[in-house]
Amino acid sequence: MKVSIVGQGYVGLPLAIAATNAGHEVSAVDLDSTVVEQINSGKSRIEDISDLSIRNALGTNRYKVSSSFTLINEADLVVVCVPTPLTRNHEPDYSYLESAVTSISQNLNEGALVIIESTVSPGVTRSLVANILNKSGKRFELAYSPERIDPGNKKWTVTNTPKLVAGITDSSTQRALDFYKTFVDQVITATSVEVIETAKLLENSFRLINISFMNEIAEFCWKMKLDVREVIEAAATKPYGFMPFYPGVGVGGHCIPVDPSYLSAKAKEIGASTSFIDLANKINLSLSSYFTVVATELLGSLKGKKIIVVGVAYKPDVSDVREAPSLDLIKALRNEGADVSWHDQLVKEWMGEKSSRLSADYDLAIIANPHTGTDLTQLGAVRILDTRGGY
Ligand SMILES: NC(=O)c1ccc[n+]([C@@H]2O[C@H](COP(=O)([O-])OP(=O)(O)OC[C@H]3O[C@@H](n4cnc5c(N)ncnc54)[C@H](O)[C@@H]3O)[C@@H](O)[C@H]2O)c1
Repeated sequence: MKVSIVGQGYVGLPLAIAATNAGHEVSAVDLDSTVVEQINSGKSRIEDISDLSIRNALGTNRYKVSSSFTLINEADLVVVCVPTPLTRNHEPDYSYLESAVTSISQNLNEGALVIIESTVSPGVTRSLVANILNKSGKRFELAYSPERIDPGNKKWTVTNTPKLVAGITDSSTQRALDFYKTFVDQVITATSVEVIETAKLLENSFRLINISFMNEIAEFCWKMKLDVREVIEAAATKPYGFMPFYPGVGVGGHCIPVDPSYLSAKAKEIGASTSFIDLANKINLSLSSYFTVVATELLGSLKGKKIIVVGVAYKPDVSDVREAPSLDLIKALRNEGADVSWHDQLVKEWMGEKSSRLSADYDLAIIANPHTGTDLTQLGAVRILDTRGGY
């Protein structure tokens, strides 16, 4: 198939490589010229995709990347993988999606199938997206298939993670199914686009709520002088009815702290409540002040104390700092007068600061999201506050 993929980030790039490897002709579009140049020079900025796999895909001559939407007018199928973040007011920001779909609409091939992979609130594919595409005056089909990629996860990839698909018509569903089946082992359909849109938000809200719950349990265990990890591992020996989640410095990244607010926004619109999400957000946002209080319990006043935060990416083994919870923690510690450095061998540079070397020259090390290979022994006898639990 002739496939266009709009957005070549954490979602769009792995998809483009998988589709190219499956034999499709892929023309990818990204408005960021640096992203386009980097890919065309055979370099990956995403941990899961090696430089070699990009070079191999480019070498087939079936993978082309540019900032121009013109090749879309030859595509049988267009997949949209642009960001859907939150605005300053914590509301869904559809500006990237609207802009991408408008450009697609202006270049649409008659009869093409458009698939939205960006996370959206229920109803957005059928309303906002379809309304923009209708302006093209062309016949089109439309489906939604949320991405479930877990950056850094070596076990679950684009190919072996089951994919949800639904179209606004039966034939859209069938065409989207036929496409994904060429490189995804298991593709599951549903009776409506809204079921799938809601399922995606349910998955990530479930994670937010459970991780936040574990953070609350971690606070309880800290006061009880129990190792929360040991408690969770003990509970997880129950072979049914329990699923382990783990506490930490807070949830981050482009999905878990963001997507539940897409569900809340829709709930507000229709007069439904999302109390669990609201509470989980509250707990998550309180963690920076909680760990500042714990650091004060350990050190006394933080004024002038040398503290290093270890692992500032939003999770281990990725360099992604979007919504990284360590940022709020660093700010809170500095507000108390602490002299705060951070170490992250994948992030290296962040907020105009450079990653500091791990050494024994600190009063406290706060372990946030260390990566595989972070050598904590370099901290020597420095006191450790492990946000993940344990002493
Ligand atoms: N990152 C994840 O782990 C993940 C997982 C599942 C779902 N998602 C969802 O997938 C979507 C994409 O996320 P991502 O992490 O790949 O984002 P990203 O920021 O890594 O990549 C998005 C790319 O789209 C490009 N872009 C922005 N506007 C554009 C436009 N109008 N036209 C063309 N290109 C444009 C950007 O330059 C960027 O390179 C979001 O809705 C996100 O919620 C992300």
